Amino acid sequence: MISEYMLEVGIPENLSVDEIYDRLEIIIGIPDCMKLERILDARYNGSRSASLYKHINKTLDGSITFFGGFDASFLRNLFGEIEARKNQFGERILDVGCNNGMITCFLAKCFPESHVIGIDSEWEGINIARQLAEKLGLSNVEFQQKNFLKVKRSHYDTIFMSKVVQEIEIIEPKDWSIGREGLVKEFRRKFSNIAKRISMNLAPDGTFFSIERIPYNIATYGYCLALHDAGLSVMMDEYKRICFMAMGETERMPLVIAKKENGEEGPIRDVFEKILDEEEKAAK
Ligand SMILES: C[S@@+](CC[C@H](N)C(=O)[O-])C[C@H]1O[C@@H](n2cnc3c(N)ncnc32)[C@H](O)[C@@H]1O
Repeated sequence: MISEYMLEVGIPENLSVDEIYDRLEIIIGIPDCMKLERILDARYNGSRSASLYKHINKTLDGSITFFGGFDASFLRNLFGEIEARKNQFGERILDVGCNNGMITCFLAKCFPESHVIGIDSEWEGINIARQLAEKLGLSNVEFQQKNFLKVKRSHYDTIFMSKVVQEIEIIEPKDWSIGREGLVKEFRRKFSNIAKRISMNLAPDGTFFSIERIPYNIATYGYCLALHDAGLSVMMDEYKRICFMAMGETERMPLVIAKKENGEEGPIRDVFEKILDEEEKAAK
């Protein structure tokens, strides 16, 4: 199913960065490729402007070549994680920050009995996502332009979110020297708005799946505690970092799964304190 889906969508696998840009030059033209490089440079230097999503989501082909080309390994691994947890997804699924809909449409294919809604703050991504759903002939998926931080209360059985928190919050701490407890507190506070919004939109007993570009365990620790504060029980036995290749380098992103039910803070603390102790030991 995964390989079939990748082919059907046209996600180019195993391309080098140069090969992706060669393809993009043909699809969007050299001036737009140069503008893209400037936008990416700005993002690399800390900008979180939405211009990347506006610029590259002008055509379906360009969007799939760019996001699919760079994320092929990530998507393949993520789809495997979704397939392995098929029984944990419910009837009403929300994909937050769906961009061009590559993941949302996979969810719709994977769960034909479910109704999947993809939301994104940028209209350009929504427009491309609708084109992708039409190309794939999917009737159980819809896309809406919405800012997740402003959505009203709802009752989704499953909320899925991939690589969105980095667009909303700066993950880098202001001052590393404040110590472990201070940093955990900072991240716990930082992620509290997102966590509350997730909780507000989950049905009782609903499930939250998140895979985020959070590079530090200490930040993931704060993220899990923020989810706990918002009334979610983080399933620490499911916690792991998903490994994949991005631009020739290995990247690891935390997979966090939580249920909307009362949970204990203890298991979160136990797991992360151990991870951080090991990290500190290894650094000495
Ligand atoms: C890095 S992309 C991730 C796309 C997709 N989830 C994936 O993993 O491939 C982040 C997306 O989140 C969207 N986004 C950022 N802030 C948002 C918000 N407050 N509400 C909804 N979408 C948002 C961006 O427009 C962008 O499309």
